[in-house]
Amino acid sequence: MNDINKRIEEILSGLTLKEKIGQLNQQETPVDGDAESFKEQVRNGEIGSILMSVGATAGNDAQGAISIDFYNELQRIAVEESRSGIPILFGRDVIHGHRTVFPIPLAMTASFNEELIERSYKDIAEEASNDSIHWTFTPMLDLARDPRWGRIIEGTGEDPYLGSKFAAAAVKGLQGENPADKNRILACAKHFVGYGASEGGRDYHRAEISDYSLNNYYLPAFKSAIDAGVKTVMSAFNDVSGQPVTSSKYYLTEILRNRLGFDGFVVSDYDAIVQLIRQGVAENDADCAELALNAGLDMDMHDKIYIDKLEKLIESGRVSEETLDNAVRRVLRVKLIIGLFENPYCKQEKYDINKHRQDAKEMACESIVLLKNDGVLPLDKSANIGLAGPFVYEKRSLLGSWMLDGKVEETPNMYEAMKAKMSGTIHDVGGTGLSWDSSLKWLYNSDVAVLCLGESWSSTGEHRAVSDISLLPEQKLLIEKAKSTGKKVVGVLFCGRPIEMQGIADNFDALIYAWHGGSEVANAVADIICGDAVPSGRMPMTAVRKATHIPMYYNVTSSGRPVNCYYGENAGECYIDSLATPYYPFGYGLSYTEFSYGDIKCENKEISLQDLKNGKKFSISIDVKNIGGFNGKETVQLYIHDKLASMMRPIKELKAYKKVLINKNETANIDFEIGFEDLGFYMPNGEYVVEKGEIEIFIGENCLTQRKITIKVK
Ligand code: BGC
Repeated sequence: MNDINKRIEEILSGLTLKEKIGQLNQQETPVDGDAESFKEQVRNGEIGSILMSVGATAGNDAQGAISIDFYNELQRIAVEESRSGIPILFGRDVIHGHRTVFPIPLAMTASFNEELIERSYKDIAEEASNDSIHWTFTPMLDLARDPRWGRIIEGTGEDPYLGSKFAAAAVKGLQGENPADKNRILACAKHFVGYGASEGGRDYHRAEISDYSLNNYYLPAFKSAIDAGVKTVMSAFNDVSGQPVTSSKYYLTEILRNRLGFDGFVVSDYDAIVQLIRQGVAENDADCAELALNAGLDMDMHDKIYIDKLEKLIESGRVSEETLDNAVRRVLRVKLIIGLFENPYCKQEKYDINKHRQDAKEMACESIVLLKNDGVLPLDKSANIGLAGPFVYEKRSLLGSWMLDGKVEETPNMYEAMKAKMSGTIHDVGGTGLSWDSSLKWLYNSDVAVLCLGESWSSTGEHRAVSDISLLPEQKLLIEKAKSTGKKVVGVLFCGRPIEMQGIADNFDALIYAWHGGSEVANAVADIICGDAVPSGRMPMTAVRKATHIPMYYNVTSSGRPVNCYYGENAGECYIDSLATPYYPFGYGLSYTEFSYGDIKCENKEISLQDLKNGKKFSISIDVKNIGGFNGKETVQLYIHDKLASMMRPIKELKAYKKVLINKNETANIDFEIGFEDLGFYMPNGEYVVEKGEIEIFIGENCLTQRKITIKVK
């Protein structure tokens, strides 16, 4: 028995039944007046973990500032006054920033830059760990194809490969090599599984997912997080094809643990265990507790079902003590791994917040997607600019949803950022700019209009699904008015989701997609507007023409009639009343410079399946030349299409990418190593296969690239 197992057994053997159950009980921070009875519960060993927020949708509600003294006091009671002395694990939703707010995760994904994602989460962990936090409930790895879903902001969009890259980078950034390091915190991969597939984008709603889709689309990001060492997973609220995940042994034990190899503990989502009654699979609280624990759900978030019901269930034999012990072992293991017993208290240390702000700006810059540019950008710094729209002075929405600890007053708005950056006149017209003067005098006096538009942070996030993903009518009117002056019109959109583009993108001469990009996004946009930074973000999700085209995602299988009808060349055949191609496809984004791609080179176009299985890789490369006027980063994307397989395969699947800085007039040779894990797929039973036959390999600037070679697996 190794040391950690020995310690677990020693601790476990000294616990009463109630104390064991206490380790599985997570409760939220007590509100005023409840603190004393809460302390009593801690003293009695009834609290294993604390959720450091209040309310079922904590990302939408203002949360009080963290009181380190209060949490240290609770910890002192647990360590010194409770019989077992086991420290409490403190968890908070630090989703995309703490004091320094980084772009929403969907935007960070748009950076296609794992090093930067990892660095951002390292900064976030450093700030959070200095504020009593041991554990955060991120990354959210729910693949999602419906931008109406409010929680789209928290995830990585529609692609399993990109999601997997994000997952590993976020987990490494948060936990580091050793999660016991004082500046790191525990990550939590959530929501396992299928939450992003809720029908109609309706939050918490049911998901219908076949095992084939589950394996190929929904599990890879979780697998990647597990391989990167994630120690906790949150189960999802929803049901998958009729099985609530909360009570599903199939999803939580057979798939998560047995197939994906997860060895940490599973926490429920908020009050999810008791919701089994409303989901119609449990009659009462005791049934809920029995089903959830037996399914493999270790820790109960907030609803107190375990602490109230498990004792009797064990005494009556409905749940075995062995099952309980295993769950407790898993929780104790994580507490030991992070060194909580040795370092239970928060000792604040100074960190370099300026460096975090710089990183947040770099991340905001790389996540911004230039969607359109008819030559108007970048602007000369001396240009006279008409700055209009409801986001000229807006600060709060730039920070996005799930922003518990950032400071609005530390967030420059667009007016401040542009004033600081540009030397010409800024005619600022906050609001819609329409009421100030219907003749748009402000714009006639300017060289160019920069319209700062978008959606409020409060129409995104948990429990914030919308049925309309367009801009508000007055914003559309402003775009039309500005356009009618004949001046050049640049749009800057601060949104949490890819919005409906038809009737919006058409009316701009240039369009910058800035997302809810965090504390530094306005400064990043100003840098991009004047050319101090060159845009390099890429869409992590398809931007549709019309919301009625949802779902629309690139890695789709082709129908037999018509072929490839909605994401490709035969789009006219999809609907008879509208063109159903994506407005901006997955992987799309412009730069100020231009890149020219050479031919794809592959030394060996026939590869033996056996060699692949033995780990042999083959190299495939392409020259990319910067032929434009700026140094800039290009994201070179590699997709495959398995032409003939025993199951239908998507028309394209991202399998690799490289984001590289290429200076003006220089050529970069981009080399990919492709192997067994890139060429296959999962069968419905979870078996991974590479099949013999031809595989097309595409390399280009986005998923619509037609530059390809064909290789043969023999
Ligand atoms: C959300 C989780 C979150 C938890 C704690 C739930 O409602 O679905 O993502 O971590 O609340 O705030």
